[in-house]
Amino acid sequence: MKTVRTRSELNECLDKVDRSRLGFVPTMGALHAGHLSLVKRAKEECDTVVVSVFVNPTQFNDPKDLENYPRDERNDLIVLEKAGADIVFMPDVKEMYPEPDTRVFDFGQLDKVMEGATRPGHFNGVAQVVSKLFALVRPAKAFFGEKDFQQIAIVKAMCEGLDQSPQIVPCPIVREADGLAMSSRNALLTPEHRAAAPDIYRAMKAGVEKMGEMTPAEVEEFVTEKINSNPLLEVIYFKIVDALTMMQVENWKDSEAIQGCAAVRAGNVRLIDNIRFV
Ligand code: PAJ
Repeated sequence: MKTVRTRSELNECLDKVDRSRLGFVPTMGALHAGHLSLVKRAKEECDTVVVSVFVNPTQFNDPKDLENYPRDERNDLIVLEKAGADIVFMPDVKEMYPEPDTRVFDFGQLDKVMEGATRPGHFNGVAQVVSKLFALVRPAKAFFGEKDFQQIAIVKAMCEGLDQSPQIVPCPIVREADGLAMSSRNALLTPEHRAAAPDIYRAMKAGVEKMGEMTPAEVEEFVTEKINSNPLLEVIYFKIVDALTMMQVENWKDSEAIQGCAAVRAGNVRLIDNIRFV
């Protein structure tokens, strides 16, 4: 495994590589089994796999959140080597943003709801960094986790505006044994909030069971109340949406793919998760 920190080192590494068989996994580090499942999938589908580790400041709407974001470069390199990554790109902020990125992306309604509505500017920052990384790596395939369900829709929409873009490969959510979706942010939970957090997935699963007897709006309320009944958790939103447009659905029959998406505050930590309904 080769670790590189600059664009020119990365270019040098990729010079001899067949880009039609090149896979890419963008991350912000503090890696866990969810991230590594993407690397594994990329290894299965590609000859060479690049992983980027970069905590992208432009996607943090809250400076405190950026400051507190977990970082563990040493361990990241150990687990990436074990997972079979070929090249790790670990740039610093100056390397990624030699000039401030002033680009503003237009995602229509896609970024006006859920994460987009509650974290203003977040998806614009994601699009800035992912478009830069795609231009540097030029992979055939890029692997993203369904944990960040809306992010996948945003990245796909962004690719429609690029000349050259990789195939976006969505990968399933990896969970802890108690159901909590793995996240770098889980490391920031207090023991009490960590014990409470599996209630998020439990409530969403209970919501899926209620489909036969409730409308989507009723299930939204049911799941929200169930999560909020734990005093350590506070729902920011739980929305049942069309999996392509991210627009709320009125009836289960309105769409061929329907997802329930949640953001929940657990103490100082903001957690997201989602579940398929249809
Ligand atoms: P990060 O939160 O580090 O996640 C990197 C990738 O890992 C994303 O595609 C995310 O969906 C996936 N992932 C995280 N937890 C997962 C889990 N439990 N199961 C499956 N996949 C999981 O998402 C970002 O970084 C950034 O926004 C990024 C795309 C790198 C741009 O900065």
